[in-house]
Amino acid sequence: MNYYMEFVYIISSILFILGLKGLSHPETARRGMHYAEVGMLLAVVGTLLSGKIITWEWIITGIVVGSAVGAAMAIFMPMTAMPQRIALSHAFGALAAVLVGINEFIEKGHLGELTSGLMGALGFEVLFGALTVTGSLMAFGKLNEMIKGAPITYKGQNVVNISLFAVTVGLFVYLIFFPYEPVIFYTMIGLSLLIGIFIVLPIGGADMPVVISLMNSYAGLAAAATGFAIDNKVLIIAGSLDGSSGFILSIIMSKAMNRSFANVLFGAVGTPQVDTTNLAEARPITRFGIEDTKFVLEQAERVVVVPGYGMAVAQAQHTVRELSDELEKRGIKVEFAIHPVAGRMPGHMNVLLAEANVSYDQLLEMEAINPTMDTVDVCIVIGANDVVNPAARTDKGSPIYGMPIINVDKAKTVIVMKRSMATGFAGIENPLFYEPNTKMLFGDAKKVLQELVTEFKKV
Ligand code: TAP
Repeated sequence: MNYYMEFVYIISSILFILGLKGLSHPETARRGMHYAEVGMLLAVVGTLLSGKIITWEWIITGIVVGSAVGAAMAIFMPMTAMPQRIALSHAFGALAAVLVGINEFIEKGHLGELTSGLMGALGFEVLFGALTVTGSLMAFGKLNEMIKGAPITYKGQNVVNISLFAVTVGLFVYLIFFPYEPVIFYTMIGLSLLIGIFIVLPIGGADMPVVISLMNSYAGLAAAATGFAIDNKVLIIAGSLDGSSGFILSIIMSKAMNRSFANVLFGAVGTPQVDTTNLAEARPITRFGIEDTKFVLEQAERVVVVPGYGMAVAQAQHTVRELSDELEKRGIKVEFAIHPVAGRMPGHMNVLLAEANVSYDQLLEMEAINPTMDTVDVCIVIGANDVVNPAARTDKGSPIYGMPIINVDKAKTVIVMKRSMATGFAGIENPLFYEPNTKMLFGDAKKVLQELVTEFKKV
């Protein structure tokens, strides 16, 4: 039975690796997800058939409750709330690791088998697991606007955080030398739960995606430590993959948002406060209607669509594709420029455009489109705001200064589709809207696009 289990674990580990590989490109992402799903199913079935199950009641209860919660989350939580959903999943995963760790501590403690080596793995597991539970719940609360999204800071915060971490690590080291000390063990868990809260408090809502990805990494590390503690190889492999990929993703996202990764890692400094300058009062804007837009588009040879969070909210991806088809029928070249943090989760725009069957050849990354932006006749910005804000390039005082953006302002004409002059996620004004080459087309993205497509189809 043991050989059989090891074999199943190796297959599922290979599937996890293939899954991650698949996720590196939009074209293979769906296949990658399927590999990972089958890998997870094999890992679960392999464990169930391992012959180590003592009673089935709790296993069945767990499967029923877990499946019900998972299915409800998948069905009822909208795509726009995906980051929150992921944060909750990390909290659940980390909680499982902590509970397994506590169980091992009690069981091995009673049997007198709590060695220093085992305690090392268990301590790591519960420490990272516990801080991930509360850290992820905090990230969930901030993104869901249940907790103030702005950084919550106070004097001496860094000292408090570093001291808390140092004491917790001190208790962990103590436990390695004197493993069966329940009071110390539970105090360490309590302090780790506090660390999770304290490190996320000073981080602004705009940095939450990086935090979530980092929590993903911590949950993975906790799972890998669980694997060492209970001698389960698939947990070690899956946890390590999770830990390292989450860490790499955090670094990539920090770069794309021009955030200091060190700050997010140590929870030391939050996002600067929002710029309150009201540009709307200072400069006029140019409004466009459907007919003006159609006219300008018809004259274009090259059109670039820049989708953002608003396209996701309006669920306008299918209508965008229809518009693109109409333009291409007229011999106009249409491309889609994707900013790495457009929307609310990594790959958000890619997922939506893939759902609408936009060809992968039409998708261009920010680095690819920017050098040629001045040759673009019309740039249509659909529900994007922060990711096209030129203040990130020009205004040193802006909270998003230094964040790489799609340079739509360099196109010959920019048409911005949104409902109002409201700010985006970062809560800051966008000088793009006041540029002479920018035309504001107000309305819900889907509705406006439908009207535009109807107008094109009339001809
Ligand atoms: P945002 O800057 O958030 O702007 C979205 C714009 O969409 C808003 O200004 C809004 O203006 C408009 N909008 C909303 N509903 C709309 C609708 N039904 N129809 C038309 N427009 C609508 O979006 P972005 O440019 O994609 O930037 C993403 C931001 O989110 C960045 O600041 C990024 O750092 C942050 N963030 C990213 C992620 C990841 S990993 N992608 C995760 C969390 C946060 P109106 O209200 O006027 O319509």
